[in-house]
Amino acid sequence: MTKKKVLLCFGTRPEAIKFAPILREMQRRDDTAVKVCVTAQHREMLDQVLDFFSIRPEYDLDVMRPNQSLYDTTSGILKGLEKVYQEFAPDHVVVQGDTTTAFVGALAAFYKKIRVAHVEAGLRSSDLYSPFPEEANRILISRLANDHFTPTQKASDNLKAEGVIDNVHMVGNSVIDALFLTLSIIKEKRLDNIYEKELPIACGGKRIVLVTGHRRESFGEPFKQICYALREIASSASDVEIIYPVHLNPNVRKPVFEILKDIKNVHLIEPLDYPRFVWLMSRSHIVLTDSGGVQEEAPSLGKPVLVMRDVTERTEGIEAGSAILVGTRSDKIIGDTSRLLSDNFLYERMSKLANPYGDGKTSMRIADIMSR
Ligand code: UD1
Ligand code: UDP
Repeated sequence: MTKKKVLLCFGTRPEAIKFAPILREMQRRDDTAVKVCVTAQHREMLDQVLDFFSIRPEYDLDVMRPNQSLYDTTSGILKGLEKVYQEFAPDHVVVQGDTTTAFVGALAAFYKKIRVAHVEAGLRSSDLYSPFPEEANRILISRLANDHFTPTQKASDNLKAEGVIDNVHMVGNSVIDALFLTLSIIKEKRLDNIYEKELPIACGGKRIVLVTGHRRESFGEPFKQICYALREIASSASDVEIIYPVHLNPNVRKPVFEILKDIKNVHLIEPLDYPRFVWLMSRSHIVLTDSGGVQEEAPSLGKPVLVMRDVTERTEGIEAGSAILVGTRSDKIIGDTSRLLSDNFLYERMSKLANPYGDGKTSMRIADIMSR
């Protein structure tokens, strides 16, 4: 039997998390020969995920440079992938989401007429500049891909509206598989005993407000507004601890450290590895974020999310009521956070809703379809 040659191509933290359970499923199958190529668009934050899930890539382009521009990342990846695709000659290249790696991974495959499968296809904000450049990346990938794995019916409908009809498979989002897998590893290995000692602030009885943020369209004034809001929330709600693992992008770190350092109940920490972050999220009261993955994970842990963006492509959580779109203006962020911290009825309602993004079986579905 000739095995199908599949190459998973990814480069950033969230892609690695979402690919980890898919890789496991594919490795179990006799009919699939799967290899991994990391572009390493992220370095430290990618390696944290590779370490935890014991992923050993066959190819590593190592393209990350401090404060890299979109031009640098795009051209570095494109050139690097030419050689990899030439050498392995996969039948399928699989990309995930909407990063530069995902777009260029698909483009480089198209140049060699290799079939492209797109995981987490069909997300749309309908604003080409927000998220930037992700909305354009995912539209372009949909034009190039042969198989489209969508997380929700809404995402499938978005593709249909653009005339993408063939080989659209609604499978859910593999981030939920990664989350369940990680929760079971934490439990099995009793990792919480270690994490409690490392981060005692998360176990001191005060309510935890967990924060993450990194979107390019928020660089500059919107990011400052987010930080001013956090400063105000910390000062008016002295019974909460704000914990913020700060993304390594210098455009994020500068305003965050300038505005938020030395505040007693604001804890700026380094990016956590995935199990530590999942554990911290499970101990948190609410989550303030602009992250795509965190919006998808939080409902499974019963954590209400305030989305600090002006638009989101993850509207399912907003429509279900487990998330609120609060924008990037400080007065709105302060107002909505204070309301959620004081209104128990609202809190209970938001934290008890089913997760619209997946059921934990997405990876199995993708591996099944890819091996046909
Ligand atoms: C990228 C993706 C974004 C995704 C996000 C997940 C693009 C254009 N952006 O944004 O879609 O949501 O990852 O986090 O594809 N850095 C490090 N170490 C790391 C990672 C980043 O030092 O491990 C710093 C470097 O200075 C790097 C900068 O962050 O140059 C920006 O990284 P980049 O991948 O270009 O953009 P992100 O903002 O991380
Ligand atoms: N995450 C993590 N450590 C952190 C912050 C986030 O492991 O310190 C995880 C989080 O659980 C989610 C993913 O990283 O699965 C989200 O990554 P990010 O917000 O960087 O990217 P996005 O999802 O917005 O593309």
